[in-house]
Amino acid sequence: MLRGKDIVLIISGGIAAYKSLDLIRRLKERGARVVPVMTNGAQEFITPLAVGALSAEKVFTNLFDREAEHDVGHIRLARDHDLILVAPATANLMAKMAHGITDDLATAVLLATDKPVLAAPAMNPKMWLHEATQRNLETLTERGISFVGPASGEMAERNESGVGRMSEPLEIVAAAEAVLREEAIKAGSLPLANKHVLITSGPTHEPIDPVRFIANRSSGKQGHALARAAFEAGARVTLVSGPVDLPDLANITTIHVESAAAMMAAVEDNLPADIAIMAAAVADWRVASEGAQKIKKDGSGKPPALELTENPDILATIGHQKNLRPRLLIGFAAETQDLLKNARSKLERKNADWIIANDVSPETGVMGGDANTVRLVSQEGVEDWPQMDKAEVARKIIARAGDALNQT
Ligand code: CTP
Repeated sequence: MLRGKDIVLIISGGIAAYKSLDLIRRLKERGARVVPVMTNGAQEFITPLAVGALSAEKVFTNLFDREAEHDVGHIRLARDHDLILVAPATANLMAKMAHGITDDLATAVLLATDKPVLAAPAMNPKMWLHEATQRNLETLTERGISFVGPASGEMAERNESGVGRMSEPLEIVAAAEAVLREEAIKAGSLPLANKHVLITSGPTHEPIDPVRFIANRSSGKQGHALARAAFEAGARVTLVSGPVDLPDLANITTIHVESAAAMMAAVEDNLPADIAIMAAAVADWRVASEGAQKIKKDGSGKPPALELTENPDILATIGHQKNLRPRLLIGFAAETQDLLKNARSKLERKNADWIIANDVSPETGVMGGDANTVRLVSQEGVEDWPQMDKAEVARKIIARAGDALNQT
C-alpha cells in the first residue's frame, strides 16, 4: 500500500517528535518516499540533520525559503503528494488547522492541500481533554481529516499519565495504509473494493489431553500474506488463523482458533464471502476422545493407544453447499508426491475453482520458509509459476482472483 507513495511528514513541536524518526524509517522500509516539514517547535526536540539523514530528502522548515519558493514551494508540497501525515500533531497545530491559521510552512501546507490528511496527536492529557482541543478535533474530523490515537499511558513528563501519547510508529503506518486504501477505493482503482475475502491460515492443533496436541509444520506465512494482499486490493478480509508465531495483521479481522472443528465453525460464521481461500494446513484427524486429564504412564511399559477420527473437510464442505459457496473458491494442495494428480483430484473432490499446488517435501523448504513454487490448477489446465517469495505469490493469486471475479 505504501510502495511508491509520496508522503509529506509534518513534524510539530512535542517530545513525541523523537518517535517520528522511527516513523520515517518504517515508512521508507515499506517503499514510501517521505518529504519532511518541521516546525520551529519540532527543531527544539529533534534536528533537521537527523530527519534529513533518515529520510534522505531535503527537510523543509521555512515558509519564506527563497530556494524552494521560486517554484511555489509550499503549494507544491501541499499538492504533489499522496498523503499529508502530521506526527506529532500538537494541541497548537490542531488549533491552527481548525481555524485556518497559517503562520509557518507546516500550517500553509495544511491549508493549501487537497490531499488526504492523517494526524497523530500527542500532548499532555489535560490539553487533549480540554474543551478547546476536543472542539478542534470535532471540526477537523467533520472536515475529513483522519486521526490515529492518541493512546493512553505514561507521558514523557514525570508523574503524568492518561490519554495523550502519540501512537506507536507501526500503528501510524497502519493508519496511513488504511487512509491510502480508502482513497484508492474511492478512485475506483482497487480490484477487490467492496468484496469480502475469507482466508484460512496456519496449522490446527488437535488436543490429545489438556497439555498435548497433534500439529503440523505450517507457519501461516502464505495465508497471512494472502490476507494482506487481499486487503491491499481493497477487500474486507476475514482471516481465520490457527496457532502461528506471526503478529496480527493491522486492519484485518483475525479470528484465532486452535482445532479444525473451531476453524470450521469460524468459517461458517463468517460466510458469505465473494472469495474464500483455504490456505490452512488443517489436521486431517483428531483424537476421538480428548483426555480430560493428562494421560499418565501406567507402569506397564505399554504406550496408550490413540484412536483417531477424521476432521471435517472445510474446503469440501463449503464447496458442496450451494448457499455457502463463494463465487471463487480456492484451495491449496500441499503434496510430497504426485503433485498434479493429487491437486486435480482435490479440485474435483472438493468442488474448488482453483487449487494452488505446491511441493512441501522437506528439501523444498516451503513449510516455514519464505519462498514458494506453486502451480495453479483449474478446469482450464495447469499454470507453472516460477519460484517467488510468499508475498509475491499472494499478490499474484489475489490479482488473478480479482480478474476472475470482475470477468464473471
Ligand atoms: N482442507 C480443509 N479441511 C480439511 C483438510 C483440508 O479445508 N480438513 C483444505 C486445505 O486448507 C487445502 C485443501 O483442503 O486448501 C487441501 O489440503 P491438503 O491437506 O493438501 O489435502 P487433504 O484433503 O487433507 O488430503 P491429503 O491429506 O490426503 O493430501
